[in-house]
Amino acid sequence: MKRRIPQYSELRDLVQFRSFDLDRRRARLAKATNIWELRDIAKRRIPAAAFDYVDGGSFGEHALQRNREAFNDIEFVPHVLRDVTDVDLSTKIAGTESAMPVGIGPTGLTRLMHTEGEVGGAQAAAAFGVPFSLSTMGTASIEELAATVPDAAKWFQLYLWKDRERSRELVQRAAAAGYGALIVTVDTPVAGARLRDTRNGMTMPPSLTARTILDASYRPEWWFNFLTTKPLGFANFEGERVSLAETVNTMFEPSLNFTDLDWLRETWPGKLIVKGIQTPDDAIEVLARGADALVVSNHGGRQLDRAPVPLRILPSIRAAVGPEAEIILDSGIMSGGDIVAALAAGADFTLIGRAYLYGLMAGGRQGAERTLDLLRTEMTLVMQLLGVTSVAELRPEHIRSV
Ligand code: GLV
Repeated sequence: MKRRIPQYSELRDLVQFRSFDLDRRRARLAKATNIWELRDIAKRRIPAAAFDYVDGGSFGEHALQRNREAFNDIEFVPHVLRDVTDVDLSTKIAGTESAMPVGIGPTGLTRLMHTEGEVGGAQAAAAFGVPFSLSTMGTASIEELAATVPDAAKWFQLYLWKDRERSRELVQRAAAAGYGALIVTVDTPVAGARLRDTRNGMTMPPSLTARTILDASYRPEWWFNFLTTKPLGFANFEGERVSLAETVNTMFEPSLNFTDLDWLRETWPGKLIVKGIQTPDDAIEVLARGADALVVSNHGGRQLDRAPVPLRILPSIRAAVGPEAEIILDSGIMSGGDIVAALAAGADFTLIGRAYLYGLMAGGRQGAERTLDLLRTEMTLVMQLLGVTSVAELRPEHIRSV
């Protein structure tokens, strides 16, 4: 065989050197090809107790697992030979325009996940044109978030307190600061038993025990941020250094009932979203009492374990409330395909919690943007392969369960 020496130009075309990115965070995030890989990065970078708080569910974590299984069991039914050049992901929910059928749901303790916390999350939401929800258990105040990220569409999430006056005060503050909708969470009369938190001795604010210091040795960036930025705490009420379960149980209200919802409906002037609906009857009842939208949710498997799986009960709830009622779904969404499946099953909109926090933990605001970027790309691609070009076109005929 006759051999020759290769030309430099041939080699140059063959070996494509990746341009070296000086922004190490961006380079790290860009390598994640899906949200599970953001989760892998997150797990390496933050203390186990914080990661587990996000990642875990309640009791045996059956609901958490089943939420995922339901999405995995979906089979898509494509329609071919449709022109799918341009896909429009925009929609409107609870009076809010959104560039995509997904928003960032309320999550507690967010600055524990990354020092940029809710501000980073809301900036990411603003960059992608989707709503951001601030939790009662948030680590940025209602006013701080409104002033720092004025261009985000913001919703405020309320846990009804034992002390009604404090609830009224929070609601009034959210209205004064321009929050467009109030989400009242109704699946938390008491806190679900999060066994990972119990095992980890998770407290808020975090305490420096021998174990956490040891953990610090291999998560230096997280600890450097934690110790050199504003102290971490619940920003909308005074909190003491007690275990999370204690904080939550002094806050949640086991006597909560439909009359309280009526009170809230009278108190809050804007759109009211009721989160944590798990049966058709409850869906009908909250809409009759003036809710503008409902969230079919089992709280990401963090409250009642073995609770109904939102994706599975959604069709019966849609059938009960009719086509006009606004239904949002959360619990288990980890990809754009999951969002498309939820919309086909009857949801108008979706919320993410963990998927957003994995991004935030992996790289602050840029990480949350990476989550939204992945979701946008995945949703667009799945819709094109399904043969649809707008959110409104998605129908139950596009899916079946295997
Ligand atoms: C708060 O809502 C939580 O699920 O931890």
